[in-house]
Amino acid sequence: MCGIVGYAGNRDCTDVLISGLSKLEYRGYDSAGIAVFEDGKITVEKCKGKLEELEKKLAREHKPQGHCGIGHTRWATHGEPSDINSHPHGNANVSIVHNGIIENYIKIKAFLTDKGYEFDSDTDTEVVAKLLDYYYNGNPVETITKVLSEIEGAYGLEILFSDFPNTIYAVRKDSPLIVGVGQGENFIASDVPAIIQYTRDYYLIESDEIVSLTKDAVSICDIHGTKIEKELQHADWDVEAAEKGGYAHFMLKEIHEQPTAFRTTIKPRIMDGMPFIEECGITVEMLNSYKKIFIVACGTAMHAGLVGKYVIEKLARVEVTVDIASEFRYRKPIIDKDDLVILISQSGETADTKAVLMMAKEMGARTLSVVNVKGSSIARESDFVLYTHAGPEISVASTKAYMVQLSIMYLLAIELAYAKGVISKEECMHLTKELENMPEKISEVLELKDRCQFIASKLVTAESLLYIGRGLDYALSMEGSLKLKEISYIHSEAYAAGELKHGTISLVTEAMPVVAVATQSDLFDKTVSNVKEVKARGAKVTMICSEEVNVDKDVANHLVKLPKVDDILMPILAVIPLQFIAYYTSVLKGCDVDKPRNLAKSVTVE
Ligand code: F6R
Repeated sequence: MCGIVGYAGNRDCTDVLISGLSKLEYRGYDSAGIAVFEDGKITVEKCKGKLEELEKKLAREHKPQGHCGIGHTRWATHGEPSDINSHPHGNANVSIVHNGIIENYIKIKAFLTDKGYEFDSDTDTEVVAKLLDYYYNGNPVETITKVLSEIEGAYGLEILFSDFPNTIYAVRKDSPLIVGVGQGENFIASDVPAIIQYTRDYYLIESDEIVSLTKDAVSICDIHGTKIEKELQHADWDVEAAEKGGYAHFMLKEIHEQPTAFRTTIKPRIMDGMPFIEECGITVEMLNSYKKIFIVACGTAMHAGLVGKYVIEKLARVEVTVDIASEFRYRKPIIDKDDLVILISQSGETADTKAVLMMAKEMGARTLSVVNVKGSSIARESDFVLYTHAGPEISVASTKAYMVQLSIMYLLAIELAYAKGVISKEECMHLTKELENMPEKISEVLELKDRCQFIASKLVTAESLLYIGRGLDYALSMEGSLKLKEISYIHSEAYAAGELKHGTISLVTEAMPVVAVATQSDLFDKTVSNVKEVKARGAKVTMICSEEVNVDKDVANHLVKLPKVDDILMPILAVIPLQFIAYYTSVLKGCDVDKPRNLAKSVTVE
């Protein structure tokens, strides 16, 4: 995780680094730091806490003046968040920032200690800085190549050598890195938002490529020193998309972007009223031929996969296994060449999801990824990619990315159901039309935010909550519960409503509010029975259901009524009140909504 940025040009380097880091804080915010060439020497400033703490420190003490430097925002892995563990690390000769984990750092540390090196921090990164210093022979690229042959793990590294005061060196393995190309200035960063204010043109750096960057030139070579020519990429989303645009938080903005994100994602994949996902290279025949389908992802993306499972099984009658990537990769799954493994990931960089992708490829299965970030590792390594077009998602808690992941799950399910002959062309066109109408319905549901804010005011004092539902509504409950706990720090648990009485109902008292999702008409009466059971034990119940059902006055304390759409599409609407309830609870508790504690947006460590 962590965000790294670098700049060489005529602007004030510190300002560019700080502005770049501010766009990367979603990758971690335990500490921040910069290293800038100032009067030919490397000046380092760093401290614990969010970027604003570093900005205060620079204003208070010393703001490095220069035109070439590197910066870092940290999500701590090795060593607690502290001033000393903050990046950059190194000495007067070499300074580095690092995103990733060096797995064999203990061995290297012992080796360097033996050679007389001393270490200030508890980080894995410092050993790389000192190893660079140890092997330095006057040629940075040769030195880096030597170090790469000794380190194991994942890294995006930016390096300054004091002998080369206008140059940034960089290399990556399994952690993302892009080079932004400007006029008389160049940039390097973990992700495009850090540079888009200055340039939209960038190179995607591959594993084991070494970059040398000055204000006038970018040179890229492999570990044998062979020069590499690259195609320039262009970021087509605007700066506005990566800014808050008048909303109090990115999360609120991103919730409101859902109608557009949904439309933009499905529109290019509908042709003559039918789903058309072949653009990614997967044909209907291929879809038809897979024996088993696995959907593997983490967190919210896995919850989108759960909806995918229900929908694919219900519509297409094909068995789907859904799993958490960190579990799946170690449970020796039975996969072969006749199977399709679908990976869902907003960032396209999640370590466990990527590991499953590599494992599935090795086992001969075909792999399809559903990814939001263009050119990310998972997208590049998969056989087929269906990009979701949510635009940049900055808030750590995922909202619009989940929404567009759902949209792809539906398209896949409908296309598969038709390919298998389970639904007729008319049914296929009807469902596709309904899907196309969803952005208007999503917009309608966004109007319920005041109601959700009121409900949040009733939940904010709770210490623990239960989210319950059956079938698709259970999958939704999981997402609602995760959203609430990650940003409001209130404990919550999602439970299959029918399973409550096998143990968990003993937790229910008047101190345990319950959020019941009951959007599926065939299961509605059964869920209402479960709601009555918890209500009888004192729980205050919030119920999310369709406007078409009649709910007796005493069934729930608070009702959220959604526009009626086909039952199978209800998750697309039901997730919105769950997002709002989590959002407003977090705001009312005074939490840092967009940057919840201990979390980071892109989880590139396992
Ligand atoms: C929760 C959340 C996470 C991510 C998970 C996977 O709001 O955002 O649970 O869904 O870390 O991340 P991606 O989708 O980038 O693979």
